[in-house]
Parts: sequence; C-alpha cells; structure tokens
Amino acid sequence: MPSFISSKRMPAVTASAPGKIILFGEHAVVYGQPAIAVPVTQVQARCSVVANPTAPAGQVEIDAPDIGLKSTLEELPPTHPLALPIHLVREQLGIPAIPACRLRITSTIPIASGLGSGAAVSVAMARAISAFLGHPLTAEQVSSIAFRVDQTYHGTPSGIDNTVITYHQPIFFVRGEPFERLTLRHPFWIVIGNSGISSSTVTVVEEVRRRYQASPSSIEPILLAIGKIVRQARALLESDDPEQLGVLLTENHHKLQELGVSCPELDHLVQAALQNGALGAKLSGGGRGGNMIALVKEEKAAQVAEALRRAGAVSTLLTRVG
Ligand code: PMV
Repeated sequence: MPSFISSKRMPAVTASAPGKIILFGEHAVVYGQPAIAVPVTQVQARCSVVANPTAPAGQVEIDAPDIGLKSTLEELPPTHPLALPIHLVREQLGIPAIPACRLRITSTIPIASGLGSGAAVSVAMARAISAFLGHPLTAEQVSSIAFRVDQTYHGTPSGIDNTVITYHQPIFFVRGEPFERLTLRHPFWIVIGNSGISSSTVTVVEEVRRRYQASPSSIEPILLAIGKIVRQARALLESDDPEQLGVLLTENHHKLQELGVSCPELDHLVQAALQNGALGAKLSGGGRGGNMIALVKEEKAAQVAEALRRAGAVSTLLTRVG
C-alpha cells in the first residue's frame, strides 16, 4: 500500500447504503439469541467524495447538510461519527493522510428511529472514501468499520445493523457467529410506521442489561422465548406461507413489552395496524420510540398505512421484502 496517495486526477466517487429493519429478535440478540433483519432500500445514506486539489494538502472538508454540519476533519473530534469512519479507513489502508478532498454526506434514513441510519452512513463513507483512494475495502472490512463506529456510540452493539446494511440482504444473525443469508421463498410487504419519538438504543439496551443483572431468572425466559420465535420465523420464511409470520410478529411484540422496551405510542400503533387488517405487528429496533412494523397483504397496505398515520405515526413507508 502506498504511504501517500495524491488527489490529482482522482475521479469523484459516490457510494450509498440502505436502511434496515429488524424483523425479529432485537434485544434478545444482544444475549446470544438469533435475530432476523432485512435491508430497506427506499431509504439510503449517501457519501460522495471529490478531490479538492486547490485546498491545503490533506484537508478533508465534510458537508452534511441534513444535520447542518460543515467542517474540516481536523476540526472534528476523532471519534465524531462523521470523522471516525475516515480515520478507520485510513488506518485500514495504512496511509498517514488522505489527499485534499470534499465529502458530502446525505441520508433519507430517519435518525434515531431503528432504521440503521448511523451504520448506513458509516458504510457509505467507508465505501466511498476507500474507492476514492483507489483501494475499495472488502465488505468484511466495511462492515467492521461500521461496527467499530457503532461500538463507540452504542456500547455493546450486537453487530446486526452493520451486517445487514453492508451485505444488503435478509440475514439470520447470531452475535459472534458468521451470519447466514436468508433466501425467502415468497416476497411479502411490510408497512413501517414512525412513532416520531427519537429514542436512544444505548439507553434502552443498558436498561435491559440492568434488569437482566437484577433478576436473570425473570428476563432469561423472555429472551429464550424470543429466540424460539425467531427460529420459527426463519423456518416459515424459507419454506411456507409468509402470512403466518404475522402471528409470530405480534408474539414477538408481546415479548418485547414484557422486556419493558415498548411504550404506549408504539403499542397504540401496533394495535391500530392489527385492527386495520395487518397480519401481525411489532416494534422494530431498540424500542421506546422509533419505528414499528406491520406485515400486510399488498392490497391492505394503504389502509394500514392510513390507520397508522391516524393513530399518530409521523410517517409510513411500504417496503417489499424478498
Ligand atoms: O435501534 P436499532 O435499530 O439500532 O436496533 C437495535 C437492536 C438491538 O438489538 C436492541 C441492539 C443491538 O445491538 O442488536
């Protein structure tokens, strides 16, 4: 690997990464149970990099209009979520500095809502910067950079977000084990309802940890029950009728309620979906806000989405899985 890369004649590069939803198994996945996640391609994070040969050597300008950030890399703390991926790419490629360039980062993925916005931004940045430097990182390297960024902000992430977003496929994920790609026999439709409440995954995960440590015998059965639901869901996804998944989704929501990670607004949205023709519904992600998901037949999608908005969802999104 060269120790210095010049920005002369470097073509501009753009890379993107999708959002994600966890279909089954959030929280329990932190404790070694399996989980299933799928990419959501209607929302994307995007990073473009263009050489800036007139800027002082090594100056990296970062423009992230969605969050009102315009800065140079030097001005940001090294662990800032938009600086860390750059340092990690540099480290991975073994180069001391990046040639002068401008980065523009945009995203249509709602922040702090369980759709993986942080991991998607890291993945898009790692891909764009490494490609700009002429040394595109492998998926494994990109995923591990996004994981390290997540660790800085989310304490003990399971790794499911960076994996599903990097590999852009439905996955069956067990913490610390190689993930498995799921081949879905039948496509199905999911309506995503955004509660509009921004929620900190790290806070909710910490709270579950405290409850677990205080009373493992009351939390362990819930985690095991979630693991069982996830394995049943996998069997359905790979074999039979995905509509049966609805029952499992709602069961998984009840277990998450028992775990204490839901909230009245999410419960209300889940109820509204079920009362308006959804086959099943649950919160998705860290909980206490963010998004919920509802499995629907395609012809019921508009009705369920409308019911969710009437019940307080600030936005809805329809996604086809598989
Ligand atoms: O809030 P999200 O979408 O980042 O999902 C968090 C999922 C958890 O299982 C709660 C935590 C994790 O690291 O897997």
